[in-house]
Amino acid sequence: NKKGFIFDLDGVIVDTAKYHFLAWQKLAKSIGIDFSHEQNEQLKGVSRVKSLEKILTWGNKTISEDKFNALMASKNDDYLSFIAKMNHNEILPDVPKVLNYLKEQDQPISLGSASKNARQILEKVDLLKQFDAIVDGNDVSKAKPDPEVFLVAAKALNIKPEECIVFEDSVAGVQAANTANMISIGIGEQNVLHEADYVFSDFTEIDTAFIDKLIKR
Ligand code: BG6
Ligand code: MG
Repeated sequence: NKKGFIFDLDGVIVDTAKYHFLAWQKLAKSIGIDFSHEQNEQLKGVSRVKSLEKILTWGNKTISEDKFNALMASKNDDYLSFIAKMNHNEILPDVPKVLNYLKEQDQPISLGSASKNARQILEKVDLLKQFDAIVDGNDVSKAKPDPEVFLVAAKALNIKPEECIVFEDSVAGVQAANTANMISIGIGEQNVLHEADYVFSDFTEIDTAFIDKLIKR
């Protein structure tokens, strides 16, 4: 019995939101916009382009297309300078335990991330080889909550969408999984991720009995 296990990256496997925050805050400051942690929360799961659009809207600013592209590029350079210093210690608690258990059970595993930096991050934390497929922001044209990224991941694993299980920390990602007809597992707060089929605060709360139940479902 094989299911497709699809993992979001940012906020599920690693906590990169703190690096996105620093890079977005620097960008916002450079154009005279304040940027808060609360606003950063709202950018979870949101694509790079959409994130900058939101920041400009919050700051009531319009800029030229050239400036927009230049800001996107320098934000990513700053972000990558943080990524460059990452190592396996930044993997969130018990993520390797769950990945290893799924491997032992011979279950197909894919990444399903909006990030265009996903491969680099997985490589830095030494998790690249745990994935049978990697689907990220370079492979899709429609951002979460559109289900495209997860549907492409299901296809890459050769598993029907209804037989897939998605781990997600963002509201948009949970919605994308639900729209794709997959089981959604929220990683974070119940009150934020209430649309998910199950919610856990982190992987330390997920035991093998629960995973066995998902596999047998
Ligand atoms: C998502 C993050 O996983 O990827 C967002 O939650 C981020 O915060 C998006 O904007 C795009 O990532 P990147 O690495 O391509 O800028
Ligand atoms: Mg995420």
